[in-house]
Amino acid sequence: MVTAKITGTGSALPAKILTNAELAKMVDTSDDWITTRTGIKERRIAADGEFTSTFAVDAARRALSMANVAPEDLDLIIIGTVTPDFPFPSTACIIQNELGANKAVAFDVSAACSGFIYGISVADSFIRSGKYQKALVIGAEVLSRIVDWNDRNTCILFGDGAGAAVIEASEEQSGIVSTHIFSNGSCWDMLYQPGSGSRNPATNPATDPASFFIRMEGNEVYKHAVRAMEEAAMAALYSNGLTPSDISLLIPHQANRRIIDAIAKRLDLDFDKVFVNLHRYGNTSSASIPIALDEANRQGLIKTGDMILLDAFGGGFTYGSALIRW
Ligand code: UT7
Repeated sequence: MVTAKITGTGSALPAKILTNAELAKMVDTSDDWITTRTGIKERRIAADGEFTSTFAVDAARRALSMANVAPEDLDLIIIGTVTPDFPFPSTACIIQNELGANKAVAFDVSAACSGFIYGISVADSFIRSGKYQKALVIGAEVLSRIVDWNDRNTCILFGDGAGAAVIEASEEQSGIVSTHIFSNGSCWDMLYQPGSGSRNPATNPATDPASFFIRMEGNEVYKHAVRAMEEAAMAALYSNGLTPSDISLLIPHQANRRIIDAIAKRLDLDFDKVFVNLHRYGNTSSASIPIALDEANRQGLIKTGDMILLDAFGGGFTYGSALIRW
């Protein structure tokens, strides 16, 4: 039986670090408030001339190098992003061109912070079906360009960066065990970017410049995130006859330390089985899980045979999990 196996991971982050102390000089906030309410200490910010595709391509090259796969052998490139280089063409096509992955089919998925998990799910399905053998899945964002730097409710949360995974058809027992993805469109307006689409285009004189920034009902999103991420994690466990004690490492979406702690508690998971790096990068949306996966992998925290659970939640709402036997 063919399974889809992650054979390489990579990540890339901007060099510029923006600390809580620096933010406190920009808006009415403090290191203490940000740390206590979110767990974030600093985030990375793209420089002029750096785009979503810049970090996506760097992360992809690192993942391809680890997997020992040449770009021209890729069949499929999927990127999850809410900050594409352009509304069109897809950022995936730009990445395909930069990598020289000439035979790959390339497209973006729009699933906000769940974009990487949606991408993994699509790649897994294509590989299991036998249609494709080698896929590259990326989560990449430059959120700093759609953040209102005068709004303390949101600007303290987000950061820029990218993570990637190479996924290949395999006859081995290890690989992606299952994916579960969900959507709840009834809450689409709790976390969104009002401007730049067909409802509120930049060409409309009535369009408020502030509408081009992220808008979020933080409290409501928080409550939904905890419930949904628990549901997605439990779906992975139930469908495979597992319990939380079978999980070697949980890699959750890095949005808020309190959300991550609440999920670990609900799953009755020891905190040392939960990977956290949001204190260094903030919320990088679709990039958060693949950056964390790459760091855990390169730090040697993932061993052959380990059961890894990826767990995401984002605007839409979208949410989902991927269970991987390493
Ligand atoms: O990635 C997709 C998913 N996104 C998320 O999961 C984010 C989910 N939401 C959250 O993480 C939290 O709701 C936030 C971190 C955004 C906010 O934390 P909170 O504990 O829900 O705070 P709050 O919004 O209820 O605000 C509490 C107080 C308010 O003041 P009053 O009304 O009590 O006087 C805010 O005005 O904190 C104030 N506040 C701040 N104070 C200092 C809000 N932002 C700040 C700030 N610094 N940056």
